[in-house]
Amino acid sequence: MTGIPDTMTAISIIEPGAPDVLVPAQLPTPEPGEGEVLIKVAAAGVNRPDVLQRKGGYPPPPGAPETPGLEVAGTVAALGKGASRYALGDEVCALVAGGGYAQFCSVHETNALPVPKALSLIEAAGLPETFFTVWTNVFERGALKPGESFLVHGGSSGIGTTAIMIANALGARVFATAGSADKCQACEGLGAEICINYREADFVEVLRAATGKRGIDVILDMVGGDYIARNIKLAARDGRIVNIAYLNGSRAEVDFLPVMLKRLTLTGSTLRIRPVAEKAAIANALQTTVWPLIEAGKIKPIIHQVFPLAKAAAAHALMESSSHIGKIVLTVD
Ligand SMILES: NC(=O)c1ccc[n+]([C@@H]2O[C@H](COP(=O)([O-])OP(=O)(O)OC[C@H]3O[C@@H](n4cnc5c(N)ncnc54)[C@H](OP(=O)(O)O)[C@@H]3O)[C@@H](O)[C@H]2O)c1
Repeated sequence: MTGIPDTMTAISIIEPGAPDVLVPAQLPTPEPGEGEVLIKVAAAGVNRPDVLQRKGGYPPPPGAPETPGLEVAGTVAALGKGASRYALGDEVCALVAGGGYAQFCSVHETNALPVPKALSLIEAAGLPETFFTVWTNVFERGALKPGESFLVHGGSSGIGTTAIMIANALGARVFATAGSADKCQACEGLGAEICINYREADFVEVLRAATGKRGIDVILDMVGGDYIARNIKLAARDGRIVNIAYLNGSRAEVDFLPVMLKRLTLTGSTLRIRPVAEKAAIANALQTTVWPLIEAGKIKPIIHQVFPLAKAAAAHALMESSSHIGKIVLTVD
């Protein structure tokens, strides 16, 4: 590839462990395959699944790079055979199955989206993982409709802040939970009608009262544990509960009677393993429905802190402290 170095700096996980196992290394620059674009990465988003991968709990799917990183933004530096959607030099952001913490990253062109006009490359790098996840889980699996009520747990997370903004912009009545007064204030500032500090109040009681005992139509949960039974208790008739993680465990003693009586749907999904074509369908839906809201300034990703690529370990330590609100992003020279 002309003008592209044979090797690049990328972050390696030298062994499963604490954040300091993330170290810069020289690796071969990837070659874009058929239908793929090679992106010269300007910024890469950090996500909780990267932390799990670093600890050895979330291996890359077959064929994906070992290098962590699920989302990038940058410029198109080379085109694989048959790739025609973008031209060299175009600014794109992309969902990748791995390899984002690097100077170059290749991705199928259908899993890349143009950088919305209103955003910097740093802001755009924080879009794909949470926007794809929220779209497919809340609006496809959960089928959230305007006027319905929506609760997201972990409201201050990258996922949570994204879910609050999109659901609010698309006309839902939005509620959230988070672990401190500051985080709750931030969630309410983004459009949550009430954010419950779960360390101080019972979200089931507060939200049954807030909805006149009707309950919540769609719940997006990453916590699991005792939230599994509490979500079922809180769900409205025909409610949908979508799990995208089980930070507090995936086993629980549950009374399933309300699932039948209230006609509930319990579902969930993981994004990384899904085929390119399914991710492309999500990308198309986002481009049609959500990108215009970003370009109109109605939704803007919340960037908590930016670190240079070589400081990926510090970025992970911050994420594990859970003191952040919104996204953590790495910048790449
Ligand atoms: N299934 C999928 O496709 C998919 C895709 C992307 C992400 N995810 C999952 O979605 C979750 C959010 O991801 P993210 O990147 O947005 O993460 P993040 O920004 O690090 O946020 C996680 C937040 O969850 C809250 N939390 C609640 N209980 C927790 C616990 N037991 N341990 C740690 N944090 C806890 C924390 O805030 P407070 O406790 O202070 O409120 C924390 O800030 C992660 O679990 C991730 O694995 C799933």
